Amino acid sequence: MQINGKHYRTIWVKEGNEPTIQVIDQRRLPHALVIEDLDMPEDFARAIREMHVRGAPLIGVTAAYGMYNALFHAPADKRRLGKYIRDAADELKKTRPTAINLAHAVDRVLNAIESVEEPGEMIELARQTADAITEESVEHCRAIGEYGLEVIQKISKKKKGEPVNILTHCNAGWLACIDYGTATAPIYAAHEAGIPIHVWVDETRPRNQGANITAYELLHHGVPNTVITDNAGGHLMQHGMVDLVIVGSDRTTLRGDVANKVGTYLKALAARDNRVPFYVALPSSSFDWSLNDGLKEIPIEERDPDEVRYVHGWFNGKIYKVLITPQDTRAANYAFDVTPAGLVTGLITERGICKASRRGIQKLFPEAGK
Ligand code: MRU
Repeated sequence: MQINGKHYRTIWVKEGNEPTIQVIDQRRLPHALVIEDLDMPEDFARAIREMHVRGAPLIGVTAAYGMYNALFHAPADKRRLGKYIRDAADELKKTRPTAINLAHAVDRVLNAIESVEEPGEMIELARQTADAITEESVEHCRAIGEYGLEVIQKISKKKKGEPVNILTHCNAGWLACIDYGTATAPIYAAHEAGIPIHVWVDETRPRNQGANITAYELLHHGVPNTVITDNAGGHLMQHGMVDLVIVGSDRTTLRGDVANKVGTYLKALAARDNRVPFYVALPSSSFDWSLNDGLKEIPIEERDPDEVRYVHGWFNGKIYKVLITPQDTRAANYAFDVTPAGLVTGLITERGICKASRRGIQKLFPEAGK
């Protein structure tokens, strides 16, 4: 997608410098566009844990390239290699527990190299696998855009050309993926098709992915948008100012329960009460078909309470960190919540739109839960 008219992806191999990987450091957005080099295996784990990169598909791809990078730096002693690879995989997997894309990507690299002994061949296979996950992610998001476009088109027809108001939470945009985004893919597709749209952007405390990142990417694409406080969505829905909610997912179970950024559940409740369609856009890599009951089974990441106690902001050309609670206040930072399947109107996937139910999911993905 575009930043200042230039096409970017969120992650790429540094030309002529393999195995260095370059990413956009999202901690600096929207105030500065900083490209960061990930040179060593520990750089990958840190970038994911400290959210230089974020969003389920992107952390999956970063972890896959992290495995490739780790193999490059593997010990020459073959007796130590097995443990080294397992440790590298574990280190990456434990960085962020909720988004399943991370474990899927690491496991896919492990499977690819499983029966290979020659280090050079392992590196090559890991690279091919990371590249394949990347390209699949781009294609899946593009297809999600095509299917989601149909939903927006229908609403636009009913509104006879009045702008379709779409509310989104967190950043499930191209910056959370490689390109297009999940929740934003239908938005970009509608914008390209000339359908008038307007996006309500939840600021998404505590890390403000909406205010910082979604607003930034929509702005760079010329999509009209307005940042709102996290608590405003219900009010807007009660007054007919939201036609549709589209959010992303970090992990969706076989029966269609959806884990996404904390606050998503409250938007789903408000949407149900006001008969506003509530869609979740996700690629198949964000399904966890080994789980059913999202509330009981999906691990919810708890992050540093300081993310709640402090905010970051731009002043005089610098980013400052400012305390907003009493100095010694206790804070809790649950990063995700689970929206039960019954509150979800539909899942927009790369294979089409389905009900958030086991039957609905298995119609599109017959391999699910088998
Ligand atoms: O904590 P983050 O910023 O990684 O959380 C991201 C989200 O919750 C996104 O909505 C989700 O990953 C879907 S991304 C396409």
